Amino acid sequence: MEIDAFLDLVRRRRSVRRFKPDPLPEGSVEKILDAARWAMSGANGQPWEFIVVKDKALKDKIVQAHKESRRHVRVIEETRIKEFRHPGVSSQEEEPGFKDAPVFIVVCADPRTFQATVLSSHFYAGEGGPMATFLKNVANATQLIHLAAASMGLGAQWVSVNHMWEPQVKHALGIPQVLSVHTIVPIGYPAYKTAPPYRRKLDELVHYDGYDKSKFREDEQVQEFLLGLRQRTTSAYKV
Ligand SMILES: Cc1cc2nc3c(=O)[nH]c(=O)nc-3n(C[C@H](O)[C@H](O)[C@H](O)COP(=O)(O)O)c2cc1C
Repeated sequence: MEIDAFLDLVRRRRSVRRFKPDPLPEGSVEKILDAARWAMSGANGQPWEFIVVKDKALKDKIVQAHKESRRHVRVIEETRIKEFRHPGVSSQEEEPGFKDAPVFIVVCADPRTFQATVLSSHFYAGEGGPMATFLKNVANATQLIHLAAASMGLGAQWVSVNHMWEPQVKHALGIPQVLSVHTIVPIGYPAYKTAPPYRRKLDELVHYDGYDKSKFREDEQVQEFLLGLRQRTTSAYKV
């Protein structure tokens, strides 16, 4: 693959948050997950397990668990000043847009595989704590799921799973207690036309042969960036 074709794919991949219920082409999920298993992982620990959910009753249980967790998310989000509130967190109780996707991929992982990596990383992981490497592994596989879906003209969403609804997902799908559930990736044909989201410019964030101090952002500039980001990204959530 030429770099321009690769860049085109990377740029075309979009977070899609509402889907047509149309089924996916035969074998597409397997191709997507074949891509995911080639993700990089620390010491090649490969912690991932993927559960493909097509059954309507099971998908409904996942959607319900997500909806219930949103109540807590909303309450916490509303403690922030208005300008900083995440555009994906509505003040109303809403049906999640992903509910109609024909397939949900539940990205799980086995924390025991973290033992594969060098011992010092358990103690000196820095930002992200001792499980940082493990979480990066899982994120890498999730990224490849998104790219593979985009290469087939399919949309996907990164629906974060947190402790508020992980137990319900585990129970619905019979996931062993020792595994963790990270993300639900609904996949399907987009039900609307996505717009390219904002990205920082390349020359703002690339430094050659050392950190270019003229590019350092003061606290106020980061705040300004975050506030501007909210205005720029709101439309991606109101689909
Ligand atoms: C760690 C992580 C968590 C995310 N969680 C969510 C989520 O819970 N819901 C959602 O709709 N998008 C989620 N996203 C997707 C981002 O919002 C999205 O990538 C970003 O807004 C840029 O848009 P794009 O993916 O279309 O380029 C997540 C992405 C990452 C990497």
